[in-house]
Amino acid sequence: MNAPRDLPPARLRPAQRAARLKGSVIREILKLTAGADVISLAGGLPSPLSFPVPALRAAFDAVLRDDGAAALQYSSTEGDLRLREWIAARETARGVPTTADEVLIVAGSQQALDLLGKAFAEPGAPLLVESPSYLGALQAFSVYQPTFRTLPTDDAGLDPQAIDAAVAADARLLYSMPNFQNPTGRTLSAERRALLAQAARDHDLWLVEDDPYGELWYEQAPPPSLRAWARERTIRLSSFSKVLAPGLRLGYVIAPVECIELLERLKQATDLCTATLTQRAAAQVLASGLMDTHLPRIRALYAAQAQVMLDALAEHMPPGVQWTRPAGGMFVWLQLPAALDAMALLRPAIARGVAFVPGEPFYALEPMRNTLRLSFVTVPAEKIRQGVATLAGLIAAAAA
Ligand SMILES: Cc1ncc(COP(=O)(O)O)c(C=O)c1O
Repeated sequence: MNAPRDLPPARLRPAQRAARLKGSVIREILKLTAGADVISLAGGLPSPLSFPVPALRAAFDAVLRDDGAAALQYSSTEGDLRLREWIAARETARGVPTTADEVLIVAGSQQALDLLGKAFAEPGAPLLVESPSYLGALQAFSVYQPTFRTLPTDDAGLDPQAIDAAVAADARLLYSMPNFQNPTGRTLSAERRALLAQAARDHDLWLVEDDPYGELWYEQAPPPSLRAWARERTIRLSSFSKVLAPGLRLGYVIAPVECIELLERLKQATDLCTATLTQRAAAQVLASGLMDTHLPRIRALYAAQAQVMLDALAEHMPPGVQWTRPAGGMFVWLQLPAALDAMALLRPAIARGVAFVPGEPFYALEPMRNTLRLSFVTVPAEKIRQGVATLAGLIAAAAA
């Protein structure tokens, strides 16, 4: 049969929730800068120098050699037992008793955000988020058409005092990133964690603690997790993306068993199970004790890169520009003089060879347009200095 030719394109009829969803501004920026000679301070990618390639290669080899057929088979939706036990043991060792049945393995914590949206969000139902918040979470939740209510943040993280009965009313979840937040790099203080747990109890709120960066501290571990304070109502998410490699697509949820079972049913409908081979290789590499030597290396690398950026900001930025001083993680957040719009600075910045992410898309509601996010982890020190100097020149000219 001859293939039909010259047929008019068929009209797509996407559901409202899909049609309304906007693509990520960050992806668009990455497209603009791909291949070009641009110093990208925009990406949220971990440094490839941090990927333990030989250890992962050996682990994949060992798994395929010793139990190849099982490793290539479908597996349980909740995830590999050895991997869940390793995660549970680590939480327990940190003082938060955890069992493997409180752990669900997911295909990156981004999948957990989608599952949480599916499980708890619906048209018009309120979700509480920090202002600003992680763009990928706002995107994942938006599919389910919730109403966002925002909580103010400052240098000590989100302000729990802002949670009163009106703000909390009918809220399905409160989503926050207590450690080295994306995009601001800020950390929620211990006092505020305690207050947040209390507010959650007072208002019968469930907390989502998204913590992919907590292990990436520079000098001192952050305060205990939110789950340590409010285990009965916290859904904790974390990921191997920033501590092993994002290409593995491995993350996890730790929560009360009833919540894990709900998310597990939804995950089953989504993808049946997370990649069996990858989970087994990760379990193998973790059992070898890799983290004991690997984590200190990433911490030292990122701490040094962060310092280069902070020094460059101090040297080059004009008066009126403020920035955060992260104690871990991958990001610095800048606040420019109020009259400036970071989005309008992006194209001229790319034309001069430096990219950043404007702050606007990180806000669920009213954006502060004079903000932007810089990442320092994938760019060599000399380029960080050069990129910051260029950006500072542009900001100074715009503010003049
Ligand atoms: C705060 C936060 N949550 C979740 C994710 C998703 O990570 P992954 O799906 O790779 O685990 C990211 C990625 O950058 C992030 O910054």
